[in-house]
Amino acid sequence: MRANASALFHATFGVAPRAAASAPGRVNLIGEHTDYNGGPVLPVACAARTYVAVGPGEPGILEMVSTREEQVARIDYRAGRLAGWGAYVAGVMRELVALGAAPLAGGARVAVASDVPVAAGLASSAALTVAAAKALSLLAGARLQARQLAGVAFRAEHDHVGVRCGIMDQMSAALARPGRALLLECASLAVHHIPIGGRLLLVDSGLRRELAAGALNERRAECEAAVARLKLELPELRWLASWPAAWLPRLKRALPEPLRSRALHVVGETARARFGAQLLARRHLKRFGELLYESHESCRQLYDCSTPELDTIVAAARRAGALGARLTGAGWGGAVLVLLGGKGEAKVTREIRRAFRAAYGREPAIDVVHPSGGVRREPVR
Ligand code: GLA
Repeated sequence: MRANASALFHATFGVAPRAAASAPGRVNLIGEHTDYNGGPVLPVACAARTYVAVGPGEPGILEMVSTREEQVARIDYRAGRLAGWGAYVAGVMRELVALGAAPLAGGARVAVASDVPVAAGLASSAALTVAAAKALSLLAGARLQARQLAGVAFRAEHDHVGVRCGIMDQMSAALARPGRALLLECASLAVHHIPIGGRLLLVDSGLRRELAAGALNERRAECEAAVARLKLELPELRWLASWPAAWLPRLKRALPEPLRSRALHVVGETARARFGAQLLARRHLKRFGELLYESHESCRQLYDCSTPELDTIVAAARRAGALGARLTGAGWGGAVLVLLGGKGEAKVTREIRRAFRAAYGREPAIDVVHPSGGVRREPVR
């Protein structure tokens, strides 16, 4: 894919690119829908990456091509509302301009090659925006730090594209380390890198969901409505994740449904993610795996972001003796993460395939997760 981005640039624009970068997709171990509530998350970067090769272009104009779209998109990134995948790159450009870290003429040519599947719960958009932020800032001769790249990428998606995501995906794409999970506290942005034990599988349900229009924005609005009500009980409350776990009865009294369920998920998931990070660090994989199952149940029942397909996979993994399993990413489709100890992989994958085929007449794709590193500069050729 690295070579593809450069080759695509060359074939499309007739010259070599001047700078290139790549960033990974992510698989979240635990801490789902906690990031925009000021809680902890625990993602790993996966081996699939997005490569972006860039060169100078006309002022104000982005010319973009990708291995997934044959047509070259040409947009004036300064003007109006943005749409399509190019909106993500345009959002990045706007943010780089604001930081004084955009290519001088303020225009660029961009070629993208990626093996991160889109809308599969693996944060393909953050892989794209973080890689684009790195490549375009390099073209400008600016050296942004990983956290700055994450900030540019986050604002591109949140402010310009209009997906009310949290900061997990961009921080993971920017800061992840090979063989480590990233414990990120989203209120303070403090990070710890935790070595990973066990073996991780990713089971893709094949169900795709477009986030921008939908459910994530709705959940986020529900969480904000919950905070507004809970502030009457605890005026200093800023984040839903900061609600004291010992005060659940009070939370239940203060909130009507569905806000009550959403808030119970966020408070419970916050505790699970922090405890989970400790267990992982101490290699207590069995107990960590139980937390993954609990997290899935909470996503299913309280946050209402699972689907029957995802539930089928999790139940099959459990029956076959996996240490843990849960939907990963926003949910409403996408993939399930499965944690295994030393043995039993063949049995678990067999049972998942069998159960899924019996229910849906097809088999899900199953891959091993190789926790990898965050954004990096790539050679151009
Ligand atoms: C999406 C968002 C993330 C996070 C997850 C749910 O992937 O982009 O910021 O909120 O959903 O944990």
